[in-house]
Amino acid sequence: MNYFHYQDNELYCEQVPVQKIVKQVGTPAYIYSHETLQRHFQAFESALSPIKHLLCYAVKTNSNIAILNLLAKWGAGMDIVSGGELYRALQAGTPPNKIVYAGVGKTADEIALALQSGILMFNVESRAELNLIDKIAGDLGRKAPVALRINPDVDPLTHPYISTGLKKNKFGISFKQALDEYLAAALLLHLEIIGIHKHIGSQITTVGPYMESVNKIVELVQRLRQNGIDIRYLNLGGGLGITYNEEKPPSPQQLAETLIPLLSPLSNCTVIMEPGRSIAGNSGILVTKVLYCKQGEEKNFTIVDAGMNDLVRPSLYNAYHHIQPLQIKERGEWLTDVVGPICESGDFLAKDRKLAKLEAGELLAVMSAGSYGFSMSSNYNSRPRAVEVLVKGDKFQVIRRRESYNDLIMGEMILNL
Ligand code: LLP
Repeated sequence: MNYFHYQDNELYCEQVPVQKIVKQVGTPAYIYSHETLQRHFQAFESALSPIKHLLCYAVKTNSNIAILNLLAKWGAGMDIVSGGELYRALQAGTPPNKIVYAGVGKTADEIALALQSGILMFNVESRAELNLIDKIAGDLGRKAPVALRINPDVDPLTHPYISTGLKKNKFGISFKQALDEYLAAALLLHLEIIGIHKHIGSQITTVGPYMESVNKIVELVQRLRQNGIDIRYLNLGGGLGITYNEEKPPSPQQLAETLIPLLSPLSNCTVIMEPGRSIAGNSGILVTKVLYCKQGEEKNFTIVDAGMNDLVRPSLYNAYHHIQPLQIKERGEWLTDVVGPICESGDFLAKDRKLAKLEAGELLAVMSAGSYGFSMSSNYNSRPRAVEVLVKGDKFQVIRRRESYNDLIMGEMILNL
């Protein structure tokens, strides 16, 4: 569900013609819909309303502080994975006691900063990390609230690069070692064990992997309780998929209706979920301008002004993003690759796509680009990063200005030795 639609053959974001925004801010441009974000967040809130819960938006999916600020105002907590994300979440007004911190490689400085900020808990991914957090907490005269991230060895049936809950993945503590690790953690004086965490992967489009992993975690929590370890927070991670092409993922409501009965043995726990893509993914588009069209010997190319530095998902995961013109007109169609200006053959937004034959200067919308779009963008080929705009009703505002050439060299210095 989203609030991008055609009216009089022109693409609108909510009540604003996208072309009107682009005339003002140029291309490439990320454009987000406030109403879509709100609707998706509320869908999770109401799905989980029968149980004690906290939604922690996964900051990495789209970390613009305007978006974090909206979510914080709607009551969201944040799931973070770095000191930078902690900084963003706090700047955006998130109460620290709604922040959970995952990631296999937290540094000592990041841990100390998070402890001093008063976050809700660390999702700890190894024995070595438990020991370090314990030591830092001791040095600071504090107790660190922790959950252990358990790797339940369940196949999320998604792209291998975004599957995280298999034995071979680097994430979490293995299911088999979980009890021993909890018992070891319980002996550390400066830790307070309060939860359990799992996140098995991203863009999951069926309930099966969720059910399997939740069943395993519930059983484990019962075993922990028998061993004197009380768990108050049950963090089920993120991962719910969206429709990019023809996927039909369950809605938050359907997911909750499936999972809540499985959680009944642990009814006194607060359930945390960490949705990212299912909130922001379909709330954003990337608008790009056609620069040239080229008929090659084997292939046709539509060359646009957005590249893999702006949206890396097609290059990195062979991901599909629907691409459509901002204006619907009578045009011929052709089979074309949509490619960017970057000097890499892997720089494409679409391959062998049936698309309108456009002219230079025409505009295209790359759909479902609100998640892992701008947040994964880079300056490769010394390309300034795109502008970000948020639309609310009939108004819009730049929420991150386009980078300038000067931004590109900011912080760099000519050698003067
Ligand atoms: N929680 C944890 C611990 C995570 O690692 C992630 C995502 C999430 C929550 C949010 O997952 P979501 O609800 O968005 O699926 N760049 C890839 C996706 C990487 C996801 C990494 N972790 C992509 O563009 O598909």
